[in-house]
Order: sequence, then structure tokens, then C-alpha cells
Amino acid sequence: MNLKEEIEKLKKEKNAVILAHYYQYPEIQDIADYVGDSLGLSQKAAETDADVIVFAGVHFMAETAKILNPEKKVLLPDLNAGCSLADSCPPEQFGEFIKAHPGHTVITYVNCSAEVKALTDIVCTSSNALKIVESLPKDQPIIFAPDKNLGKYIQKETGRDMVLWDGSCVVHEAFSLDKLLEIFKKHPDALIIAHPESEDHILKTANYIGSTAGMINFVKEHPKNKFIVATEVGILHKMKQEVPEAELIPAPTQEDNTCACSECAYMKVNTLQKLHDCLLNETPEVSVPKETMEKALIPIQRMLDLS
Ligand code: 13P
Ligand code: SF4
Repeated sequence: MNLKEEIEKLKKEKNAVILAHYYQYPEIQDIADYVGDSLGLSQKAAETDADVIVFAGVHFMAETAKILNPEKKVLLPDLNAGCSLADSCPPEQFGEFIKAHPGHTVITYVNCSAEVKALTDIVCTSSNALKIVESLPKDQPIIFAPDKNLGKYIQKETGRDMVLWDGSCVVHEAFSLDKLLEIFKKHPDALIIAHPESEDHILKTANYIGSTAGMINFVKEHPKNKFIVATEVGILHKMKQEVPEAELIPAPTQEDNTCACSECAYMKVNTLQKLHDCLLNETPEVSVPKETMEKALIPIQRMLDLS
């Protein structure tokens, strides 16, 4: 049996489900039961009846699945699948930040640790952040963490009173405006689509701004077009599958790296072999202290109810 067949067999034996993010390697996306953005993945995690969840994504995503399913086994192929954005917001410092801004509603982007979620009023993802902020009374001051770029974008769109935590994603901050404009000069008919974790100067050039699922939908709605895609390059796999006729150009980064485009090193520590091994051995497992899980569930559930 090859690796894929073995994974399929183990999945059936163990009543497991494989959830994968769009930034995973193509072979992982292709074997997953569901591929999605952070919101879609947490919705799937909330409704699954599988006994084991294999989360092909990063740690905060698997943690969210665990918080929604405390009685289930949640496996992450490699525990080193972290996130620069989640790391930029240590819970102790965030607790002090909240104390320094009394009377503010705390909204955190799902890309943060379970401890930070436990200090939060409502969690959001890039696909529902605007809706969640707008669900609050107009004069309600807000703390938004950890992504300052997404925060600035929401602040601009909604005009709300927001204090931003100074965190960011290394992948989305790597895009080069100069190189993007150079490419655009060669392809003036291209539509620029960007993830809101990108910096303001990149977002200003964009015809569409949205979550990974939103970006894929936009391409589906404009199939005959050419696109410059400003997010992690793994998304191109699903876009090509969904809209084979669209021309996709990954947005260029400041550094000349091997693929000249943006790869998330954390997402890419997961491999098909590691996915197989974790399913076989039922390790590494994601665990969260009970009290943290109980506290973190409240703002996650509020988000799901509002979505
Ligand atoms: P979404 O897939 O929810 O848009 O998030 C992107 C991301 O950076 C995940 O870490
Ligand atoms: Fe975190 Fe950025 Fe990687 Fe997403 S792309 S997992 S925000 S480091």
C-alpha cells in the first residue's frame, strides 16, 4: 500500500477526520476530508462526529478544534507548526494590556494561543472580523489583537474606536510593494487580491481583500481573469483546482527566496509522512489545560454563533 492508501485505511479504522488549511502542501489538501479557511475549519471541527481529528494546519487551529471537542483526540502532524502572529502575543503581556485599557471589549483574531483566547470577549477570523466588530454598539471601544494589519484594515472600514496590539504575520509582511507594482506593469489587466494580514500599502492596491476562502470565491466569480495573489502560496493549489482557466501570479516578496513567493514555514513543517505517522501512532496530541479550555470556549462559541 502506498502512503495515501495507508492514510485512508487508518482513517476508517480510527474513525478519524482530516481537516486541512489552504496553506498545506497539495498532497495533504488532496487527502483531507475538508480543506478550508480558519472559520470553515473551526465550524467543521465543531460539527464533526469523528473520534479523532487530524489537524493539518498550525497549532492555534488544532487548539481551537480541541477546545470545541474536549473529549476527542486532536492530532497535529508536527507540534512545531506554530505561528509568528500567535507568538507575538504572550498571554501575560496581553493581560497587562487589557488592564491598561479598562472598558474595552476584547476581540482577538483566532491566530493566538488558547491562553490569549481565555482573556478574550469574542474571537474572530479574517472572514468574519468586520461583522463581529460591527455587531458591537457603535461607541464601544475595542481592543483588537494580535494582528495590527488586520486591525488597521477593520478600523479603516468601520471607523470604530480600536486599540491595536502590535503583532503581525511574517509571511504577509514579506510582500514587496515595488516588486508588486513591477509585476502589475507587465500585467495591467490583472486583478490584485490580498489577505488582510498584509500591510496597508499592499491592501491599498487590492481589488479584493478577504480571507483565504474569500479569495478563492472571488477567483471563482471572475474565472476568465488574471490574478496577482497576495497571501501564502499554498492557496494556489485550490485556486487552480477550482478555476483551471484563471491565470495566477503569486505576489512577490522583498527577499529573493527559492520560490520568490511567500511560504509559511510553520504550515510547511507538516508533511504527508508526518500526517500518516501521527494517525498511526496517535501522537503528537494537542492538549489544553481544562480551565483554559473552558474560558477560551466562550469567545469561540460567541464567534460561531455570530457567523
Ligand atoms: P484564513 O485562512 O482564515 O484567511 O487565515 C489565514 C492565515 O494566515 C491562517 O494562519
Ligand atoms: Fe501564522 Fe502567518 Fe503562517 Fe498564517 S501565514 S500561520 S498567520 S505565520
